[in-house]
Amino acid sequence: MEEDFGLLQEATREAEAAEDSRALYEVKMKFLGRTGKVTALLKGMKELAAEARPAFGKKVNALREALEEKFAALEEKLKRKELEAKLAEEQIDVTMPGRHTKAGALHPVTRVKDQLIDLFSGMGFEVFEGPEIENDYYNFTALNTPADHPARDMQDTFYLTEEFLLRTQTSAGQIRVMEKKKPPIKILSPGRVFRSDDDATHSPMFHQMEGLVVDRGITLCDLQGMLDEFARKMFSETSKTRLRPSYFPFTEPSVEVDVSCAACGGKGCSLCKGTGWIEVLGAGMVNRRVLENCGVDPDEYSGFAFGMGIERIAMLKYGINNIKLLTENDVRFLEQFKD
Ligand code: PHE
Repeated sequence: MEEDFGLLQEATREAEAAEDSRALYEVKMKFLGRTGKVTALLKGMKELAAEARPAFGKKVNALREALEEKFAALEEKLKRKELEAKLAEEQIDVTMPGRHTKAGALHPVTRVKDQLIDLFSGMGFEVFEGPEIENDYYNFTALNTPADHPARDMQDTFYLTEEFLLRTQTSAGQIRVMEKKKPPIKILSPGRVFRSDDDATHSPMFHQMEGLVVDRGITLCDLQGMLDEFARKMFSETSKTRLRPSYFPFTEPSVEVDVSCAACGGKGCSLCKGTGWIEVLGAGMVNRRVLENCGVDPDEYSGFAFGMGIERIAMLKYGINNIKLLTENDVRFLEQFKD
């Protein structure tokens, strides 16, 4: 270039010294920006004599073009370098071993409860949860167990006052549901219950799962058919059930339900104490008096109810020999129930 006003060299030196694209941009602005040195030359052109202007303008434009080319080339080089640095920095080693995170597990009682809810909702049952503090009427009297009834001794009750108590059975929920809802009824009622009882298979607090079905023409056969399905899904495909006569004030007839021992297939082992059967729940046809107490006509409707201990099912299913393991929350125990 014939004349560069000393700017070509100056700009080139500064541009080449720029360490990143940001610094380069600043140099570019210093020369080519609105208040830059090259721009200032053009602005100063009006001071010149008119005939000198075209030649001067040509020179400045040539200078500007030369600088623009230079900056563009340098910018491309710096940008590429910066991109490479960024990629190198963000590189992930996909072959690195993962970091170990400790995951929790659902408590076996929760697992069994969820499995039961799953199983019975598949048969059309809806979940209803009643209160843990009940009054005498719902827990006993309405369930055909008046104050002087000997069956009250079957369950050692924690009384809070004369009237209120910690419910001893989720059966109290049967009354609450039937008071509010007219048949057809098909409910499942899980919850905590309390009894003054304490040994390897009994705990003062445990969980029950209650079921109640009320409609026209319900029979004991419906109960057993449903229980067979329950046993197959909960224990094993080949599980069978057996009904034995029993007594509960709120069901008539009442039965105790045994499931064939899944550990020995019914041949007899230590788990089933050689009998081939394991008792899993109480059930029966809802007593007419209970239906009457809730304003349901027993000549039109009938129903069955069942109640099982969730801890008991969990112990059988997972081979747990002491109910205390379920409340101690020892991590070494709980960790065994991961999926
Ligand atoms: N409530 C009874 C108990 O706790 C179980 C049961 C429920 C029996 C429903 C019959 C019908 O032992």
